[in-house]
Amino acid sequence: MLSVSDLSVGYKGLLAIQDVSFEVRSGEIVSLIGSNGAGKTTLLKTILGLIKPVKGEIRLNGQVISGLPAYEVVKKKIALVPEGRRLFPRLSVRDNLLLGAYTVESKAQIAESLDAVLRQFPWIKERADQLAGTLSGGEQQQVAIARGLMSRPELLMLDEPSLGVMPKLVTEIFSTVRHIAGEGVTVLLVEQNVFEALQICQRAYVLQTGRIVMEGTGSELSESDLVRKAYLGM
Ligand SMILES: Nc1ncnc2c1ncn2[C@@H]1O[C@H](COP(=O)(O)OP(=O)(O)O)[C@@H](O)[C@H]1O
Ligand SMILES: [Mg+2]
Repeated sequence: MLSVSDLSVGYKGLLAIQDVSFEVRSGEIVSLIGSNGAGKTTLLKTILGLIKPVKGEIRLNGQVISGLPAYEVVKKKIALVPEGRRLFPRLSVRDNLLLGAYTVESKAQIAESLDAVLRQFPWIKERADQLAGTLSGGEQQQVAIARGLMSRPELLMLDEPSLGVMPKLVTEIFSTVRHIAGEGVTVLLVEQNVFEALQICQRAYVLQTGRIVMEGTGSELSESDLVRKAYLGM
């Protein structure tokens, strides 16, 4: 579904991503793990069209999308749940959700998406009129994920969804991700929470200072020396 080849991305001449190639197949959960500063967010922003790559190509279902502006990429059924959630704290939960459908023109379709999302997250339905800023971190993350689904993506990219979520609620975030994948949405999951990210994915890539240094199935990577030493503290 998504194929990234030889991608390099820089900020003012400094490369944050170097010759990165990977793919996400339809129906998979693929995890991209790496420490702070490895280039994970840069990679997701580049896929979404927010940053222009220095070189390389990004294809979605065979079609080149690198070079397209973000609003065009979103129309091609990719959504990003950004790092830090980025909800509007003084808007209601419902209005935050509706903003996730800003590229959808048909009002009927937006209403239908809202219905579908609220069916998927029944607790959100009960609190749709509450200001988003008054929810807990874990709840806000669920709303951010729900907002990502409002444009009915085929590929949902999640940037560190467990960050800033209370430890006991982290499991819930990951089970939400699993549930979404179960509904047929392909998932690209970026995480520093390596243990959980490797548990729920089919395949994973390790990003270190802008380069992919390892790839394999979730269990292959969980058992590898590099991952155990560098990310799992074993
Ligand atoms: N807007 C920016 N301008 C300059 N450098 C940046 C910018 N954003 C990120 N970087 C740098 O790019 C590298 C990768 O950052 P980032 O993609 O945010 O990593 P991660 O998401 O894995 O923590 C880091 O060295 C970071 O300092
Ligand atoms: Mg990041």
